[in-house]
Amino acid sequence: MRALTINPGTADSLEVTELPDPEPGPAELLVEGLAVGVCGTDREIAQAEYGQAPPGHDRLVLGHESLGRVLTAPEGSGFTAGDLVVGVVRRPCPEPCGACAHDEFDNCRTGDYTERGIKGLDGYAAERWCVETDYAVALDPGLTDVGVLMEPTSVVAKAWEQVRRVGERAWYDPKVALVTGAGPIGLLGAMIGVQQGLDVHVLDVVEDGPKPDLVRRLGATYHHGDVDEVAGRLQPDVVIEATGVGSVVFAAMRNTAPFGVVCLTGIASAGHGIVVDVAGANREMVLENDAVIGSVNANLRHFRQAADALARADRAWLEGLISRRVPLDSFADAFTGRSDDVKVVITL
Ligand code: BGC
Repeated sequence: MRALTINPGTADSLEVTELPDPEPGPAELLVEGLAVGVCGTDREIAQAEYGQAPPGHDRLVLGHESLGRVLTAPEGSGFTAGDLVVGVVRRPCPEPCGACAHDEFDNCRTGDYTERGIKGLDGYAAERWCVETDYAVALDPGLTDVGVLMEPTSVVAKAWEQVRRVGERAWYDPKVALVTGAGPIGLLGAMIGVQQGLDVHVLDVVEDGPKPDLVRRLGATYHHGDVDEVAGRLQPDVVIEATGVGSVVFAAMRNTAPFGVVCLTGIASAGHGIVVDVAGANREMVLENDAVIGSVNANLRHFRQAADALARADRAWLEGLISRRVPLDSFADAFTGRSDDVKVVITL
């Protein structure tokens, strides 16, 4: 079988490799890979900025945004051949730490977790893959064309859950949400905000292309102005920050309503320092009981929340997030971004 692999230490070493067919263990599904999504993390791995091969191997099978169809399942596992499934990305650290021991490996304290297709475990960009039944999530069969959006949706399902939990430390009834960045994470985050009944606003730099229209079709409001001006006017109760750009992050922190919760999901690149008034931000955050939280990855609960969110969403809208589907042999095209790309998918 063929798989998309990389030598994580070497930039531009992606290739399609012929590998032996995987053999499922007694508690594992054998899955026919249908598609993988490509995200910023995959691009960083392709540039040798991130990623780690499994111990004793030079190459890593890429792909953590999975979608496949079950070929074989252990009896009594609850899965059957033909089920549409997605594999969870992270596995607990070996110790395990307290969070990992409580199935909250997304909040691992040691950093010794592994991640399929990213850190120490082969991923899902393969014609066949195996996954432990405990780390597989079934999807509504109608989601064949868009189920590859599950993993990024799980990341924002977690972000929204964390926002709620932080908000519920006291009386909480948020009304207005601002999402900064209209990439897949921002748009899926906006989708969940709308599903939760909030008045959702999305801000990005582009004025044309598919993003403004995707936001409007959600029933949310698109903005492309200055973050300070837009957020200052909206005074959002919640900000889902999905750009990782320092100036946007800080503007979001300075312009929430009292008791605002800012959830950071974008990973800022170091070395783009800006001068900011930390004392002013401190004063405002204390006097308004504001909170800023970081959120990464997702556990099984969030994958299930994502499966529900996708099942409730408009299929045509979800289709609109997938800009291009590239066959495995043309993987290089998937790693060459185009200005109007939202999500690019490799078909297996
Ligand atoms: C993935 C997460 C992962 C993170 C860091 C993201 O692209 O969606 O599951 O934890 O990268 O490796």
